[in-house]
Amino acid sequence: MRHPTTGAAAQLALKAARTEIVLPRVIGHRGAAAYAPENTLAGFRRATALDCRWVEFDVRLTGDGEPILLHDDRLNRTTDGRGKVSALPLEMVRRLSAGAWFGPSFAAERVPTLQEALALLAKLGLGANVELKAVRGREAETGKIVADALLRLWPSAMSNLLRSSFQPAALAAAGIHAPGIARGILFSSIPKKWRAVAEELGCATIHADQQLLNPVVVADVRDAGYPLLAYTVNDPTRAATLFAWGVTSVFSDNPGRLHDAAALRSGSQFIAGGRDWAERLRRGPGL
Ligand code: G3P
Ligand code: MG
Repeated sequence: MRHPTTGAAAQLALKAARTEIVLPRVIGHRGAAAYAPENTLAGFRRATALDCRWVEFDVRLTGDGEPILLHDDRLNRTTDGRGKVSALPLEMVRRLSAGAWFGPSFAAERVPTLQEALALLAKLGLGANVELKAVRGREAETGKIVADALLRLWPSAMSNLLRSSFQPAALAAAGIHAPGIARGILFSSIPKKWRAVAEELGCATIHADQQLLNPVVVADVRDAGYPLLAYTVNDPTRAATLFAWGVTSVFSDNPGRLHDAAALRSGSQFIAGGRDWAERLRRGPGL
């Protein structure tokens, strides 16, 4: 897969960037989406209370180019506003409640800015998978703005930070502007050409819909030396099956339930990236 923003020079930079990352087995999805409104600061606090060490959240741009946490391109589902967030300035988005839809006790939650989110992650000591969501035509801009913000504001080791996206152009820009921050390619079903896509974008990790995985495709990814992260896994038995197949980490709306599964009690750390990462992967869990 080729994208106009990835010329030969950029390709070299992307491929050279192999940042070591330390992945937990369980990552809170959109914070802890079963317990607190998704992509809110309350969700991060809840994930911490559930012993999560990392959270995943979605970042997109407001109409005036400010990075905020929101999954959908429209405000309707997770705020009391309506319409496309890409058509509104930050100041108007910030007037909305991002928690009333979930429950009255969360009515005071605002749509977080990326800056606010990073400040809270620092305080809580959480690692992050920042998922880039871009409207068509703003993929590269989204990748750049988020990269700049992370370079400025990420408080701790880059080994606790991963960016991901379904959108290759966003990942390409992310790699060009911050090659030292790891990237992962998101798929729904893993395509046959997955490795070429990952290599071209300099991705360290592969992410896929857990419902569309099978042991053969998991082995294919893992044998090639890539960690595989599966979304969204809320059932402990399913999590155990996925780990047995070789899945590295799972994203979960209810991470507390998965932590309790006996199958998850060992090998809670996983190291990817760095010069000897493929060898470590081949040696398996217990790293
Ligand atoms: O990053 C994993 C997962 O969040 C990807 O899908 O739609 O929930 O953002 P989505
Ligand atoms: Mg997401």
